[in-house]
Amino acid sequence: MALEGIHGSVDDVVVTTGSQHALELLAKLFLDPGDVVIAEGPSYVTAITVFRSFQAETVHSPMDADGLNPQALRETIARVKAEGKRIKFLYMIPSFQNPMGVTLSWERRVEILEIARAEGILVLEDNPYGLLYFDQAPPPAMRSIDDEGVVYLGTFSKTLAPGLRVGWAIAPHAIREKLVLANEAAILSPSSFSQIVISEYMDTADWRGQIDTFRGVYRERRDAMLAALGEYLPSMSWTVPTGGFYVWLTMPEHLDSKAMLPRAVKELVAYTPGTAFYADGNGRRNMRLSFCYPQPDFIREGIRRLATVINGELALLGEFHQTAPLPVVPVERDVLPRTPADRRSPCPTPRSVSSCSPAASHMNGMSRCARAAASLTPSPGTASRSSCATRMRRFSLPFARTRRMSCGPRYTAPVAKTVPCAACWSSSASRSWVPARVLPASRGTSRRRR
Ligand SMILES: Cc1ncc(COP(=O)(O)O)c(C=O)c1O
Repeated sequence: MALEGIHGSVDDVVVTTGSQHALELLAKLFLDPGDVVIAEGPSYVTAITVFRSFQAETVHSPMDADGLNPQALRETIARVKAEGKRIKFLYMIPSFQNPMGVTLSWERRVEILEIARAEGILVLEDNPYGLLYFDQAPPPAMRSIDDEGVVYLGTFSKTLAPGLRVGWAIAPHAIREKLVLANEAAILSPSSFSQIVISEYMDTADWRGQIDTFRGVYRERRDAMLAALGEYLPSMSWTVPTGGFYVWLTMPEHLDSKAMLPRAVKELVAYTPGTAFYADGNGRRNMRLSFCYPQPDFIREGIRRLATVINGELALLGEFHQTAPLPVVPVERDVLPRTPADRRSPCPTPRSVSSCSPAASHMNGMSRCARAAASLTPSPGTASRSSCATRMRRFSLPFARTRRMSCGPRYTAPVAKTVPCAACWSSSASRSWVPARVLPASRGTSRRRR
C-alpha cells in the first residue's frame, strides 16, 4: 500500500475473502432498501449486483478519458438529492477502471474528495489494478489524501492469485470495527492458510519483480489489442488503458452488443456486453474487451473475428434501413408464466413468427428474425403480440431463477441473447427486444416442436 501512497497501520486493516467480500460487507453494513450508491458510468458489474441485492439503487455518473467527471458528479448528486433519495456511497475504481480502463487524474481525485466531504458521502475506493501500470504509476490512492472519508479495498487477486481469495479493506476506525463484526458473522475468519501462503511468498519471493513481469506481459497484450483494433475496426472508438486489463469499445449507434454476442460466440470470440456495467440499461453500443489472458496472436485473431461480426451487423442494419434504436425491455417478472401449463402453452402467433423463438433465433441469427419481421405487419396491441411478449420473457429468466422454475436444460445454455420478437417488431409502440437465454439450436428446436 505504501507503493500507492497509503500509510496505514495494521489496526486499520480488515482481511476479507477477496475485495468482493469487502464490498458485500460494506453493503450489508450501510445499505437500506431505496438507498442510492453513486458509481462511475459504466461500473464494475459485480459491485452493481451487490448493491442491487441489498435493494439499493445504483445511479451512474459520467466518465471521460480522465475518469469520473467532477462537474457531472455535482449534478448527479444534486439530482438524486432533489428526488429525496439518500446517497450512501460513492463507489469508484480510480485506477485502470473496470470496465473502461481509464484512470482518474490527480486533480480530479482531490476535487472529487472535496465534493464527497462537502456532501458527507463516504467514498469506496476499489483498487485491484493500481499496481498493474504499463509505463507510469497512476496517481496516489484517494485513501492517501483522505483517511476519514475513504474506505480502500485491495486484493491479491490480480497481482498474485485470484484463487487464494485474499483481499482487504482499510477503513476509518468506526467502520473498521463494524466490518470486523460483520466479517465474523459471515465467515468467522478469512482463510489463515491463504494468508500464510501469501505471507511466505512475500517474505521469500521477488514479488515486486513478478509484478514487473506482469506489467510487461499485459503491456504487450494491450498493444496487440490496440493495434488490431486500429487495423480491423478503424471506424470504431475505444479507450487506451495505461494499465489494468480492459479496453472499452464503442460501436456505431443502433448496434447492440448483447444481441450480437451469440453471433460472436459462433465465431469463437467473446466479450462482455456494455449493458452489464450499467444498472440502467445503458451501454448497448459498448463492449468490454479483456486482454489479460490471451496471447497477442489470439488477441489479433479475436479482434479480426469480432470485426467480421460487427461489420456483418452493420451490413444487416444497412439492408433494413434501421433508423431507430432498439430498446431493451426490462424483464417484468410479474408477467412471467407461473404454472406448468403456462410454460407449455404455445405462442399463438403466425407461423413465420415462430422462427423468432429463442431456439430458432439462435439457429438463424438476427437476419432470419429481421427478415420475418420485415415481412410481417401485425397491428399494435394484438393478443398475439402480448402472448408472444410473455413467451419471450419466459426465456429471459436469469439462470438461477430458470433452474428454480424447473424449465429444464433447454433454457440453461450459457449464452445470453437478445431476441427480437417479430410480431412486436413493426409496431413502434411495442418494438421490443427482450434478453433471453438460448439453447443449442438443434435440441431446442426439436423440443419446441414437440
Ligand atoms: C473492480 C473490481 N473490484 C473487485 C473485484 C473482485 O476481486 P476479488 O477477486 O478480490 O474479490 C474485481 C474482480 O474482477 C474487480 O474488477
